[in-house]
Amino acid sequence: MSSAAAPGKVILAGEHAVVYGRPAIAVPVWEVQAHATLHLRPAGSGCVIRALDTGAVIQLAGAPRDEALALVTRMTLQRLALPENPDWLIELASEIPMASGLGSGAALSAALVRAICAEAGAPPRPELVSELVFVSEQIYHGAPSGIDNTVVAYGRPIWFVKGQPPEGFTPARPFQIAIADSGVPSPTKETVGAVRRRRELQPAQYEAWFDAIGEVVGAARAAIEQGEIEELGALFDENQILLQEIGVSAPKLEQLIEAARGAGAVGAKLSGGGGGGNIIALVERETAEAVAAALLRAGARRVIVTTVGHP
Ligand code: PMV
Repeated sequence: MSSAAAPGKVILAGEHAVVYGRPAIAVPVWEVQAHATLHLRPAGSGCVIRALDTGAVIQLAGAPRDEALALVTRMTLQRLALPENPDWLIELASEIPMASGLGSGAALSAALVRAICAEAGAPPRPELVSELVFVSEQIYHGAPSGIDNTVVAYGRPIWFVKGQPPEGFTPARPFQIAIADSGVPSPTKETVGAVRRRRELQPAQYEAWFDAIGEVVGAARAAIEQGEIEELGALFDENQILLQEIGVSAPKLEQLIEAARGAGAVGAKLSGGGGGGNIIALVERETAEAVAAALLRAGARRVIVTTVGHP
């Protein structure tokens, strides 16, 4: 038997602009994880993947080409030069809420790839895990930038520019983020498509906003690396104004952001595709509880407080 886990993720800064080549920062959320456990089955019985959360049972042989978990499994087997249909039961379970911008799909795929690596005695190199998870992200999200697979594979704060090798970096001191789910469903594919259409109408204006977001992201990395939490909070607020400009904020998100700031958050912004989904609030140890409570009172469906930069 072999098992492995992978964290959830959240984007700190740079969403949307990252699709157009600007940098973004994402961090793992270790407080919620996906798990894969691989059991051996009787000879000749083949490979079955069972997703405990959805109840899905996938027979590897004959699974459709667009079945993300089957595709990732097949590609991982190929990359590790393993048999096509090994006698395995792979059980997947996740604490990461689904379709909530916390990267549940990427984390499940990452745990799956790592469990197969463990069974094969192969090191689960982050580059390999990221590349294989990207295949499932393309099925779930269309044309993703690749930030989700990267951060769950590396499991540390990531500076990400599309098409370039990711850079891991280290906060000068740990800090806390409250992640609040607005409960408003908003598929990333749709907000990304809407931004693309608006950009086609006003290319120069959108490029200028993307450049401004890129600057904020650069300054946010410096603030994190220097442990300047107040500065990072101000940059969250600045990034949020630019996200409003490009049209991806929403009344419910604004309401949660205001509630967080009102309860003492150092800064707050939407995170991910926007339109709905999550907001993140930078909090101090002393204000975390009050901010989380204020977010719930303001209608957040769920709040997860995560520490970025665990030793
Ligand atoms: O909704 P999430 O958390 O998967 O983030 C989407 C981030 C975007 O920049 C909007 C899209 C992308 O592919 O990077």
